Amino acid sequence: MDFSVKTNHPAQLKTACLVVPVFSRQHLSHAGQLLDEASSGALTRALKRGDLDGSSDQTLMLYDIPNILAERVLLLGCGPVKELSTVQWGRCVSKAIQVLDQAKPTEAVIALPERDDKSSRYADARETVLAAAGGSYRFNQCKSKDKEKPRHPLRKLGLLPADGKTAVTVKKGMSHGQAMATGMQLAKDLSNLPGNICTPTYLAEEAKRLGRNAGKLKVTVLEEKQMEKLGMGALLSVSRGSRQPAKLIVMEYNGGKAGAKPVALVGKGLTFDAGGISIKPAAQMDEMKYDMCGGASVLGTMAACLALDLPLNVVGVIPSSENLPDGDANKPGDIVTSMSGQTIEILNTDAEGRLILCDALTYTERFKPAAVVDIATLTGACIIALGSHASGLLANDDRLAEELLAAGQASGDRAWQLPLWEDYQSQLDSNFADMANIGGRPAGSITAACFLARYAKKFKWAHLDIAGTAWISGNGKDKGATGRPVPLLTQFLLKRAHLAE
Ligand code: BES
Ligand code: MN
Ligand code: ZN
Repeated sequence: MDFSVKTNHPAQLKTACLVVPVFSRQHLSHAGQLLDEASSGALTRALKRGDLDGSSDQTLMLYDIPNILAERVLLLGCGPVKELSTVQWGRCVSKAIQVLDQAKPTEAVIALPERDDKSSRYADARETVLAAAGGSYRFNQCKSKDKEKPRHPLRKLGLLPADGKTAVTVKKGMSHGQAMATGMQLAKDLSNLPGNICTPTYLAEEAKRLGRNAGKLKVTVLEEKQMEKLGMGALLSVSRGSRQPAKLIVMEYNGGKAGAKPVALVGKGLTFDAGGISIKPAAQMDEMKYDMCGGASVLGTMAACLALDLPLNVVGVIPSSENLPDGDANKPGDIVTSMSGQTIEILNTDAEGRLILCDALTYTERFKPAAVVDIATLTGACIIALGSHASGLLANDDRLAEELLAAGQASGDRAWQLPLWEDYQSQLDSNFADMANIGGRPAGSITAACFLARYAKKFKWAHLDIAGTAWISGNGKDKGATGRPVPLLTQFLLKRAHLAE
């Protein structure tokens, strides 16, 4: 979708549809008042009929308003004006997009709500783009006919600031939103693709494609032979059960000063997780194609960095493999040696994410990172703990944790911190190796992070468990990838680059 910022008087806007906020008790937004004046009270008269009182979720399409150039006006209920958070505004925009998708216009303009502070104006503009891009997202790459395609998809959306003088802030929010939307779309597309198409090789090709015309992005893919030389015995043990070769995708985005320490993002790219010999139950096993959402979010965030031309150095590392049962697959009780030299007793082959991530973390040491964030659909326990609203966050550095929590809050893509206390470490004790790969049922997300922490001693590190947030499961129409946590990660990087409002 194309976005632009408009600065005309609302009555002078030539558009197929002008979307105008209306707050509780029929309180017109500034743009609405201007239209009402220009049309000698046409909006007030329409509201008097009582079809819309301004509570959120309501919309009312008006036609033939005199003395204005817009062909239609869509009144958009936004609820009580004092309670309009940016998140709430995003929901209203989604509603407007739904209505527009079923109507004729392929182009529209939306009037933004008035705000006293710059950061809200920035955040609203950004959220408008994210909600519009998210609302018009369809995944029909694998449908032979584009059945779900709306007949007149909305292609262009203009943003109308409440006040012409605030256009600069709105433009900034819009362009940051566009970059995030691009990243989220890539992450969603890759995650929604099935395991037979989106293999480790496919992910690697996709990374290379991203680097192809981008001078600032260098992409290298390590093959199994090279991983063997590096001693990545944990990662390779997972891949042994699969006919698809594992890949270690390395993306170096050099937007910052030469020699400045990079931020490293390490994403789990498990393209299908059957559990291995400790096989998963059949129900909903299809959803394990999403076990590469962490890797997809790294690719998406890299795409956002490119779109933003972000002045920061960022490294993305994606260990990618399948986890399948096979005669050569890991067996419970097997002991492998990781690249760090630490040995691991694999008590459950379904705890494979940590096995591929631990070697990727050790590999990341060579970049001398300023901070490392790994992102993984790591544990079902995280869904039990936090549901689908917040990603789990665990870190060995409190300031890094604070930064990520704040980025989640600011982007509406929230995380919640769990403790990484030493007390939990003993759950990983093994009689036969340096550690076991599982820590029993209690605190499953924490012991998984405790495992990774043993490979993250050389840097400031945080772990995001996105098992609950990266996709919507079940049988509903909205089943699929969410694109999270691309907004959180992009916001985190924007802040590090001193660019977000
Ligand atoms: N990919 C799964 C985690 C997962 C489960 C993500 C459900 C999303 C939804 C991971 O590889 C896994 O299987 N974890 C096990 C760990 C256990 C064996 C300690 C789990 O959560 O059951
Ligand atoms: Mn698993
Ligand atoms: Zn997994």
